[in-house]
Amino acid sequence: MKHYSTLTLILVLIVNILSAQPTQIASTPPMGWNSWNLFEDEISESIIKEIADAMVISGMRDAGYSYIIIDDHWVGGRDRKNQLFPDPQRFPGGIKALADYVHERGLMLGIYSNAADLTCGGVTGSLHFEELDASTFASWGIDYLKYDYCNAPTDRVTAFERYSRMGEALQKTGRPIVYAICEWGQRQPWLWAKAAGGHLWRTTYDSRDTWETGDKFFMGTIDIFDLNEPLAQYGGPGGWNDPDMLMAGLYGKGKSSSANGAYSGCTLTEYRTQFVLWAMMAAPLIVNADIRKLDPATAEILLDKDILAIAMDSLGMAGKTVYRSGEIQVLIRNLQENEIAVCIFNRGSKETSYQLNLRKDLGLADSCHIRNINRKTSEGIAPQVSGTLQSHDCAVYRLKPCDN
Ligand code: GLA
Repeated sequence: MKHYSTLTLILVLIVNILSAQPTQIASTPPMGWNSWNLFEDEISESIIKEIADAMVISGMRDAGYSYIIIDDHWVGGRDRKNQLFPDPQRFPGGIKALADYVHERGLMLGIYSNAADLTCGGVTGSLHFEELDASTFASWGIDYLKYDYCNAPTDRVTAFERYSRMGEALQKTGRPIVYAICEWGQRQPWLWAKAAGGHLWRTTYDSRDTWETGDKFFMGTIDIFDLNEPLAQYGGPGGWNDPDMLMAGLYGKGKSSSANGAYSGCTLTEYRTQFVLWAMMAAPLIVNADIRKLDPATAEILLDKDILAIAMDSLGMAGKTVYRSGEIQVLIRNLQENEIAVCIFNRGSKETSYQLNLRKDLGLADSCHIRNINRKTSEGIAPQVSGTLQSHDCAVYRLKPCDN
């Protein structure tokens, strides 16, 4: 056994303390599951437990989906000391016991509140009780707070002030709690949400389970993509643009997401394209599907290791559009070690072919290794990529530069 002098030990300790980096919250976009679109007010403790078990069995947890987020309608009210308590019918065992259950399975628990007296669903919100609620959440072992903005004044100054108040309260708890700001992009939160303590901020109103709605507020996949993609520069490690949740696996069975049955859902191609585009935009990947009955097609989309590697790339740079011709649109996302993800997608309603020269059309350097992620094959060195895309389909490539 080696013997170290006390001086050496002290020096090692000092070096360790100086070089220790605080772990950054949300250094990559949060991944997980949220109760809203499928369950809405029918959420319960038993559903959350079943989802937690299913996240493990289905391989979702091991793929990185770590947060289980209870959305609106969990609150019962405030007790005599003004402390929030959960709805006793829906959550009879309390949130702390539920958090323990989730943590024991290697997952994390998220919860929901609102920066006004009442939430969007009409239950008690956190306005004026920010410190108390944040410390209650921390004492229960909560790891993520989605903080909504219904029933609140519309101006940006008030929004910043209310979000900052909860941001500071969360920080004061000393627990690393992801803070998800949800004012639907109406006050340009990409400019101030990080300063309010946020780790992600919604950029749009709620997503609908369809490709395109034509509605100004509640939009489909392509509408939301068009709003979120130009905001690439504002997202990065510790603070992400959030274009709302993944529709894959809902098949029109959600309540609000289907506009109560008006939308029958997306095609499998569209669900995959949403997943790929969200990965290219470095968006949080929050699933809504019923993981307890995860169908193979949805599992294949959500567990695609190549797409997840792009989504969780540690550089955290969101992709941008570099090419548009007719219905073909191309996004490039810079990855660590000078690798590049290329996504070519067909916005149109008809089948379309593409043939793109990497240098001339996309402004990229020569590539010495091209991985075709759709086919899971290697295409070696090629000056161009080509193929045919069905309506709303996309092709994804991962390029390695020649000097790597
Ligand atoms: C808002 C949010 C949704 C969901 C509901 C809950 O609409 O944008 O994501 O949290 O409230 O009522």
